[in-house]
Amino acid sequence: MSRGIPENVIEEIRQHTDLVEVVGEYLSLERRGKNMIGLCPFHSEKTPSLTVSPEKQLFHCFGCGASGNVFSFIMQIDNLTFPEAARFLAGRAGVKIPEQKKSAPAEDDLKAKIYQLNQLAAKYYVYCLNNTGAGKKALDYLYRRGIEQKTIEQFMIGYAPVDWTGFFSFAQKKGFSAELLVKAGLASPGRQKGFYDRFRNRIVFPILDISGKVAGFGGRLLNGEEKQGPKYLNSPETPVFDKGSILYGMNLAREWIRREKLAIMMEGYTDVVTAYQAGIKNAVASLGTSLTTSQARSLRSQADTVVTAYDSDSAGEAATWRGLSILQSTGCLVQVAEMPEGSDPDDFIREQGADKFLEITRNACPLMEYRLRQLKKRYDLSSDRGRREYTEELLEILVTAGNQIEQNYYLKKAAEELGVDEDALRSELKKRRYRGNRSMQAGKQEVPEKKQHINIKPAEKILISLMLQSKEIAKQGRNQLQLDFIEDERVRNIFTLIFEQTKDEKMASVDRILDHFEDPQTINLITEAVTDPALQDLLPQTAKRMTEDCINKLYTIWAKRKQIELQKKLKELEQQGSEEQLEELLKEHQHLLKRKEINPCRME
Ligand code: UTP
Ligand code: MN
Repeated sequence: MSRGIPENVIEEIRQHTDLVEVVGEYLSLERRGKNMIGLCPFHSEKTPSLTVSPEKQLFHCFGCGASGNVFSFIMQIDNLTFPEAARFLAGRAGVKIPEQKKSAPAEDDLKAKIYQLNQLAAKYYVYCLNNTGAGKKALDYLYRRGIEQKTIEQFMIGYAPVDWTGFFSFAQKKGFSAELLVKAGLASPGRQKGFYDRFRNRIVFPILDISGKVAGFGGRLLNGEEKQGPKYLNSPETPVFDKGSILYGMNLAREWIRREKLAIMMEGYTDVVTAYQAGIKNAVASLGTSLTTSQARSLRSQADTVVTAYDSDSAGEAATWRGLSILQSTGCLVQVAEMPEGSDPDDFIREQGADKFLEITRNACPLMEYRLRQLKKRYDLSSDRGRREYTEELLEILVTAGNQIEQNYYLKKAAEELGVDEDALRSELKKRRYRGNRSMQAGKQEVPEKKQHINIKPAEKILISLMLQSKEIAKQGRNQLQLDFIEDERVRNIFTLIFEQTKDEKMASVDRILDHFEDPQTINLITEAVTDPALQDLLPQTAKRMTEDCINKLYTIWAKRKQIELQKKLKELEQQGSEEQLEELLKEHQHLLKRKEINPCRME
């Protein structure tokens, strides 16, 4: 039941994901024997009762009972569905999930054609940059800006010639229709007749998606030619270009970001290009707009920390903060590097070098602190009105804190500074809930309610545990245990699955079995069973004996139940005087009694 995502992909995600690492991103863990322990994020507690087993890839909280594998952990902590959690983990692990065929084949076809056309355009612009007279002028401009040949190639930077239909005619000759050129945002219909190229006389930066496909373009005017339109002209939204979900440079930066768990957010194409050339390879740009949820998720899936190096003027804009709060709410640590007035990373790196720039990013301060510092500059705290307005805005900012600890820290500081009661400030804060913030929500979550108790017998629990820990025992169980012996349907489902998964003499994967269940009780039960300390590392003979005992016990209970049922039926039939049926039932009764003496019979 992989719910829309192929089983082999789920498997790949599992293989590339370590539960201890994932949990460690949400709370700190300490080694305790074979396991790791930490403060449970699902209920509030002072002494750690969350246990994570690196070996079994399972977690269990002895306090509130929360438990499961890495998928259930993400589902619970981030309040996600299974496919959502799988997608998140896939992103984190760099596993590709094949696009679900939601769109009609015709639409997929269109997308594929646009990608092809975009690829052709990128090549065409590269050719023009390197092989035409006007291109030479553009190339010189790039060189003057310090961008080297190798970097130009890495970023596939090109030049769109000045004539109106250069690319249009070229693409038509290659068999692409005018309609497609318009859909791809590369041409527009002329006022009178015909079509003309969107990008003319511009340096062209192809915008690649995370997988390296050309999704769109950004075209920059050459200096001194600003009269010709906006400095940068970008592709419009097209079926393959969704500005809100692409980060410029991510295709190249991804592996570096993953390695360092750190991304640097910049604003422009040239910032990323210059940084990359200078060896700062974990930089991406949001292309002049504020960060969207989709971009934030994409960053979060690779990085733990994101340092922003925005131009100083955008650092003051409300939209910037909104974007960064969204990013913080995905659980990222967001820090702000302060760029000198009037300088962007491109200027700065060229003038002062990569080391100086990195120093600034190392000195970046947490988003919250930076914002509060900026805020304070704007108010006169010696006046009542200033203090009131300051407090108002301060609370608005505090609700966006990444977690409770951070919030408390700044709340305390603010209370001291304003000379007001901390609790009073806190109760004001509580009135404002920041909805987008998932880590705070996880922190607030109460102990999950234990509903609908599963009727499991101790013997069944032991069997589940032992069968999941050894393939020999799994075989023994398969041969000796009859599913009829299990009364509760949900417990029976667990055994059915274990039987199924071990039938070719393989060891069952607990982790995989858990994926088949959605209700927390079942997940809990299985996890609890296999992590039961009393059932670890048993000697083979002991495990075998215990298995036999448990099966016998279950048989006895079952037989007793059956007997009572039979006796009831017998009585009924006696009263009705139905000889034939009576005979049959009596035989069954005899059989039942006999079986009690021996080991339970084989399954077949
Ligand atoms: P900037 O104006 O800061 O440009 O815009 P820049 O990156 O420093 O470029 P250079 O150094 O002058 O060549 C930052 C980003 O905002 C978007 C672009 O993505 C640009 O890289 N932008 C800017 C536009 O989309 N259109 C514009 O007209 C200007
Ligand atoms: Mn610049």
